[in-house]
Amino acid sequence: MGILDSALATKGMNAGVKFKILRRHLLAFARHMTAARLHNFIRAERDRMAKKTRVSSMPYILKIEPSNICNLHCAYCYDDRRQPLPGERPYGRMPFENFKKIIDEVGEYLFKINLYGFGEPWLFPETLDMIRYASDRDIGVGVSSNMNFKDASLPRRIVDSGLETLIFSCHGVGREAYSRFMGKGDPDLAFANIAAVIEEKKRLRARYPVIDWQYCVTGFNEMEIEAAREKARVLGVDQIRFIKPFFPENAPDEWFSSMFPRQTLRHEAEPSPGCSWVYRSAYINFDGGLLPCCRDMRKPANDFGNVFTQDFKEIWNNEAYQTARALIASPGADIPGPDVMCRRCPVTTSARKT
Ligand SMILES: C[S@@+](CC[C@H](N)C(=O)[O-])C[C@H]1O[C@@H](n2cnc3c(N)ncnc32)[C@H](O)[C@@H]1O
Repeated sequence: MGILDSALATKGMNAGVKFKILRRHLLAFARHMTAARLHNFIRAERDRMAKKTRVSSMPYILKIEPSNICNLHCAYCYDDRRQPLPGERPYGRMPFENFKKIIDEVGEYLFKINLYGFGEPWLFPETLDMIRYASDRDIGVGVSSNMNFKDASLPRRIVDSGLETLIFSCHGVGREAYSRFMGKGDPDLAFANIAAVIEEKKRLRARYPVIDWQYCVTGFNEMEIEAAREKARVLGVDQIRFIKPFFPENAPDEWFSSMFPRQTLRHEAEPSPGCSWVYRSAYINFDGGLLPCCRDMRKPANDFGNVFTQDFKEIWNNEAYQTARALIASPGADIPGPDVMCRRCPVTTSARKT
């Protein structure tokens, strides 16, 4: 397990992609370092390395979903429901006041917020207010978007908001490959909107947001990789990453590229990087439901607590978290405690190979 794996604690990426993601994180660290954040960061990493179940630190990166409503319906999106089934999380948007509560409680420890989950962040205006609120408190904010909006004023407001990173989700250049992945999305609209953001940055001589094109590679779009690189250059995006998508292993052949063949989806294909989420981060749904990570966010029964009604610090060391950390520390061991979702995660169910 290399240093990049340990830093990113994730799988399925080649060294080039890992480096680009790490560079994005390092940018946030360098820009938003304070004594309190550095102190907490050191404690969190110390807690992680010591495999503590009860920690003295707080997370330093949060993933917060402003809304789980999306305008597109991409193939194999984890949230591919038309409507929630009984017992599943409904659709909705996070009120700005509730977002403030999170930042007011833990903002002093946060280098970064990834302000997106499975919905489309630009559908609702409060996302811009959230970015402004967090960036005014010196927290780096990243958003991932399909950029399929029809609002000519949005590119300027995005640049004005203080956004640090804009991940541009675009999995094809030509309409055919794009539509196969991104359904009713319109590539011309997406490219025009990303070009407008870049134009606005130039006009304002703004360095941010950094534009990071994320391209999930499939069998039917891998022949467009060179065209995508060229498009990225012409548009002036800051970087482009070709990543391994998550599909079910039984997806049809054309979904698998020569870069990421079917067998790379198998958990045992790579050593487990363990899980650092329970020390470094958390996933907060639009309704305040807090999950240890973005796996299985459909079921509110998986929530470890609710940050709108509970103190964040209280949730962070509650019985669910302590059980999760114990499970992660000893994969395969018989750990007593509540039926947390981490019990069903491959990280804890398979013996760790490093
Ligand atoms: C589900 S999207 C939701 C956010 C936003 N609507 C967007 O399109 O970026 C969140 C992230 O998942 C990525 N994504 C979409 N489908 C994927 C897949 N099958 N495997 C891996 N990542 C995927 C997107 O590129 C995006 O960065």
